[in-house]
Amino acid sequence: MRKALSVALLLGLTSKLTEAARMQDLVLGLPDIDRLNADWYSGYLDASPTKHLHYVFVTSLTDPINDPVVLWFNGGPGCSSLLALFQEHGPYVIDDGEYYIKTNPEPWNKRANVLYLESPAGVGFSIAELISDYQHNDMSQSKDALAALLNWYKYFPEYLRNDLYISGESYGGIYTPYLAWQVHQHNQLVKVKKVKTKLNLKGFIVGNGATEWDVDISPSFPDVMYNFNLIPKSMLDTYKANDCVNYFNDLKPPTNSTVCNDTWNDINDLWDGLNWYDLFRQVVPGGGLLKQSASEEDRIRSVLIGNETKTYKAGYTFLEYAPWIKKHIPQRLLEQSSHPLLGDYLSDYANRADVRRALNIPDHVQPWLECNDSINGNYSYQYEGSFWIYKIMKQYGYKMLFYSGDTDGAVPTYGTRRWISMLNWPVKKQWTPWYTDDNQVSGYIISYEGLDFATIHGVGHMAPQWKRRDVTKLFTNWIHNDPIV
Ligand SMILES: *[C@@H]1O[C@H](CO)[C@@H](O)[C@H](O)[C@H]1NC(C)=O
Ligand SMILES: *[C@@H]1O[C@H](CO)[C@@H](O)[C@H](O)[C@H]1NC(C)=O
Ligand SMILES: *[C@@H]1O[C@H](CO)[C@@H](O)[C@H](O)[C@H]1NC(C)=O
Ligand SMILES: *[C@@H]1O[C@H](CO)[C@@H](O)[C@H](O)[C@H]1NC(C)=O
Ligand SMILES: *[C@@H]1O[C@H](CO)[C@@H](O)[C@H](O)[C@H]1NC(C)=O
Repeated sequence: MRKALSVALLLGLTSKLTEAARMQDLVLGLPDIDRLNADWYSGYLDASPTKHLHYVFVTSLTDPINDPVVLWFNGGPGCSSLLALFQEHGPYVIDDGEYYIKTNPEPWNKRANVLYLESPAGVGFSIAELISDYQHNDMSQSKDALAALLNWYKYFPEYLRNDLYISGESYGGIYTPYLAWQVHQHNQLVKVKKVKTKLNLKGFIVGNGATEWDVDISPSFPDVMYNFNLIPKSMLDTYKANDCVNYFNDLKPPTNSTVCNDTWNDINDLWDGLNWYDLFRQVVPGGGLLKQSASEEDRIRSVLIGNETKTYKAGYTFLEYAPWIKKHIPQRLLEQSSHPLLGDYLSDYANRADVRRALNIPDHVQPWLECNDSINGNYSYQYEGSFWIYKIMKQYGYKMLFYSGDTDGAVPTYGTRRWISMLNWPVKKQWTPWYTDDNQVSGYIISYEGLDFATIHGVGHMAPQWKRRDVTKLFTNWIHNDPIV
């Protein structure tokens, strides 16, 4: 009998109905893994009568009854949270360039119960019934995620007592504060007795997340390129002397001049051949990324699910992971067929019939895609970003952690530090190195009132994957209020 479940039954917390629903979601085993080392549940949560979000819930390896619950989002928009489950910080992971799944010795569920939510509807194995259900924006995404989370607690009511944290990466820099704010708003309704269930939200965690569109990503990119020694000073000087500016996804129109246009293109030309997600990471087999010589057609694979053949595209290029960048780089870069490819074996694994069955995915559900371009294409970005939420959450005393892999080219540390300085919050503990092993600096950390900001030294966007031990230590200690430095 499974520990968390039997305790819940002892406490009499689950009704027969929720017990049955939850048993349906129980994962009995995972192909290529001998025996699961924690309880896993995988199933669907209603976000609306027609939108059903897929989740995987993995219990803590240490103390599931008392450890915090942490909800996790990957970004995109359009990318699946199974990317983190199976590549970054889940109990079993597939690494770049490896064609097997293995035990992760440093998973986030070491001392946390982790809820991976595939959001919004249409992403990964999450489904919807109406065409209009696939159109999302920052606010609608967070409303759906709140509805799904409330439904999750219906199946897992014993976790209402545990601390709750929301977390995410990349575009999750928007999703995460938004959902935390939605939970906070929901709890305000409990106060005035409009709803019953209060969620025990303690705070949120963002990794390399987009937050403030006036500084994040494109507006900071020329400085990042210069400071990483990738462009000459003259190029940055020209860009600045002409007051050039470009915004993420053209949320505000770029400077309309030939010199700005040309200089922006020149700057972008110079990162051709580098790994945008980790500017110092090699782009060769064995270096962490595969230089893919396979053609687009070679990436199309098919699998028999039930009596139907489903086709899917293996892996993702940075263009698929961040399709909005198409508006921002020269045509020549787009046409290259040699963009590094990530996660091709994960695509094969997640689309296997036995893996789908193990994760309780019904046959009618679409094949699994790492990032769904059409969800991304139909997503409406909101210019206000998530910056405004930090100020509200501070006022209500929530804890916030922002960590940043400091060699990321996608959501670079430099932009993050710009909006953090715009907050102008008092410093509680000065900037200092933090360690995981005695002799190696893991990164630097500074604590403001309400916000801890930590860098992860020498890795980029997928910091939890590329420095597992360090990021898991930061994460675990932070949610347990244990010292980090
Ligand atoms: C950009 O500038 C050109 C000429 O200076 C003008 O014709 C064009 O309408 C401008 N475009 C935008 C989007 O403002
Ligand atoms: C900027 O470059 C794009 C092509 O990359 C072109 O379509 C556009 O007209 C250019 N704008 C200006 C103002 O030069
Ligand atoms: C597949 O099986 C389902 C029921 O199991 C049936 O309704 C459907 O017609 C079958 N489709 C094909 C193409 O054979
Ligand atoms: C991607 O999103 C679209 C909706 O925009 C959805 O119809 C489709 O099932 C999703 N997944 C795949 C693999 O296409
Ligand atoms: C919006 O979604 C539809 C299908 O749901 C898809 O056909 C279309 O290409 C998407 N639009 C964009 C811009 O991706």
